[in-house]
Amino acid sequence: MNAVTTPPEAGGGCGAVTAVRGSLVWFGEDPFPTSGEGALEYVEDGLLVCRDGRITAAGEYSDLVEKLPVGATVVHHRDKLILPGFVDPHVHYVQTRIIGAYGDQLLDWLQNSVYPEEARFASRAYAERFAKLFCEQILRNGTTTALVNCATYPVSVDALFEETHRRGMRVAAGKVLMDRNARPDLLDPSPRQGYEESEALIRKWHGVGRSLYAVTPRFAVACTGEMLRLAGKLWHEHPGTLMQTHLAENTDEVEEVRRLFPDRKDYVDVYEHYGLLGRGAVFAHSVHLEKREWKRLSATGSGVAHCPTSNLFLGSGLFSMRDARHRKRPVHTGLGTDVGGGTSLSLLQTMGEAYKVGQLGHVPMDGTKLFYLATLGGAETMGLEGVIGSLAPGHEADFVVLDPSATQLLAARTAESETVDDLLFALATLGDDRAVAATYVGGRVAHERSPCPDPKPRRSSRRRWNRSRNRELRWLKFEEGTGWSKDLEVPGAWSPHGPGIEAYKSLLYCLHQDTAANPFLWWDVYDKETGAWRGDREITDVLGNRVPNHGQPAVSHANDFLYCVHHRDVSDTRLWWSRYNIEGPEPGWSADQVVKEPGGREVRATGASLTVYDGLLYCVLRREDSTLRWLSHDTGTKAWSAESDVPGGFTSSRTPVVERFKDHLYCVHDRGDDQLHWMTYSSVSRSWSGSRRIEDPDGNPVRTSYAPAIARYNDHLYCVFHQEDSGGWGRLWWTRYDEGKGWSRPERVGAAISSAGFDVSAYHGPLFCVHRG
Ligand code: GUN
Ligand code: ZN
Repeated sequence: MNAVTTPPEAGGGCGAVTAVRGSLVWFGEDPFPTSGEGALEYVEDGLLVCRDGRITAAGEYSDLVEKLPVGATVVHHRDKLILPGFVDPHVHYVQTRIIGAYGDQLLDWLQNSVYPEEARFASRAYAERFAKLFCEQILRNGTTTALVNCATYPVSVDALFEETHRRGMRVAAGKVLMDRNARPDLLDPSPRQGYEESEALIRKWHGVGRSLYAVTPRFAVACTGEMLRLAGKLWHEHPGTLMQTHLAENTDEVEEVRRLFPDRKDYVDVYEHYGLLGRGAVFAHSVHLEKREWKRLSATGSGVAHCPTSNLFLGSGLFSMRDARHRKRPVHTGLGTDVGGGTSLSLLQTMGEAYKVGQLGHVPMDGTKLFYLATLGGAETMGLEGVIGSLAPGHEADFVVLDPSATQLLAARTAESETVDDLLFALATLGDDRAVAATYVGGRVAHERSPCPDPKPRRSSRRRWNRSRNRELRWLKFEEGTGWSKDLEVPGAWSPHGPGIEAYKSLLYCLHQDTAANPFLWWDVYDKETGAWRGDREITDVLGNRVPNHGQPAVSHANDFLYCVHHRDVSDTRLWWSRYNIEGPEPGWSADQVVKEPGGREVRATGASLTVYDGLLYCVLRREDSTLRWLSHDTGTKAWSAESDVPGGFTSSRTPVVERFKDHLYCVHDRGDDQLHWMTYSSVSRSWSGSRRIEDPDGNPVRTSYAPAIARYNDHLYCVFHQEDSGGWGRLWWTRYDEGKGWSRPERVGAAISSAGFDVSAYHGPLFCVHRG
């Protein structure tokens, strides 16, 4: 009866107004020339309002909330910081898999580790796989814009842009141009062909959605003069495109460039000679530069990407922030991850390393400067200031929600922070992807952190090797009169999400994803006769196949079957359904199928729930755009109805839950405000009631931090919900609805400490609750 959930995907324009509440932080100007104080914009209780992918207002919550149009959703990010999405002005998606390759320095590392890997990107399927992984990973790290090097092959560019375009991301990328000093299968057959292929890619992708093309000569060691000349020509022929390359990363490389271009003054002069300096040109590394070179970069408006994790990992050298941000000749500077030379896709970790490199050069940067570099600094480096990198109205609505209490250590460190700058600095030194509570692209959620980022010590030693994301499943039961029982383990059952539970034919079924590393559906059964669980095992369907699963499945019996609706994969929002019959004509689990409307359209959701009502199986779901929809299934014909709107036009930040109670279908949901609401549907009048807030007897709202679970039990409708403490842990609470009296005062579900992910069902006497410990 509970929720099936998968992280929401971003989509195209939204039309509707969405607003997020939290502490807003952005940079009005460059903090390097000043003390930094004036550069930082901070609104403690702020509201960021977005429409059609752009920021329309950023300011005090109390001022702006009144001006919101009717139907606007407000998502609350309590005690969290909302900042512009991170900008990574130098990264190689085609090196994702070779991150952390031991031993070599730049030139050998390229030949031994990088080039063999990039050669694999001639395969479209391989490129698609890593484009997807790369996008997932940067979003989970809060990065919304990147300047990306692809491989020589145009398919490697197509694969990336297809993925970033689908997600609505502002990404710049290009195929590397290289015509010497590497294995032949990686080289452009001629400079002319490299030019023509790049030009075809510009025509295909530049300006499509938010995609930008970047002309990408790899570096002077791998490019002949003719290749560099054509790169410069191409860049100038297509205004608005970017240019990216590597510059003075390693001393052997600098030496080699001197040997290859003896007529040029220095490395910067090589690029300048071929017309490659200017606004929108980004030079990665720039570690070993002379004063003249810095001056030329500054005078031409070029940008540099400081890549500290890479420079340390490859032993390249120490970037000079003092030279880059010299008062008299400043150069636009951002922070690049440079994966796979870099060791992390996290700009938080990159800020931490930039600080340490700064310390070695006696330029200790504070939190304000570090975050400026990772946001507006990166945007300026790419020539995209005014478009991204800021929360000021008019900018594109790409932002990140950071949690200063994401881990126990961060929580301890930030508990007594007295300034925003200190909070930012703590996040830069201790933060990583766990500190990213959510990432928004174009005003819509593109990544949401799992609710339990910080593991609690295990109570049991079984399956110790499993990732911290997994939790043991625990159960307890409630009886009127005696209250809640002790909280016990479901022996050997684990899940990185919650279970779906339901009584079916004299047994209580519990379905759940096994561990994060084993993303398949498992089930266990509780038998009232023995008072014990029978043992957790994998589900195999009638064809003998395991059932891939991601997230919390929804289960409900309907007529003679137990139904399960679930997701198969984190990045696949299609819903799948299957059903189980313990005996009868179709015993066992059916093979799962995509939920489809009568016309064949596939139903997509980021969460769904099920219940049987008036002979049909009802499914209420949260679509990718966060609105609620519903459809029904006829167990006889095995057909799904078309999807309809749940009226009200609001969006929800969590999965809604449904249950039949008395003559109605009840739906409990939130409306993006961390509070529980409810509405009912009648199959007689074929209409929904309006959505009302659940209030305790004193009229107080009921707060929630996860999708609730509902079940009817002894003439009441019970609702169990989660209230988060710190680090994703929380308590379960319950309230119940009585037709005469309304909702009861919430009480704790026994002494259970729970992470999010739970379900309830009445089963032979008591009400059962299974939850993630
Ligand atoms: N110089 C030329 N190509 C590369 C590359 O792929 N990575 C790094 N770090 N430096 C380079
Ligand atoms: Zn690089």
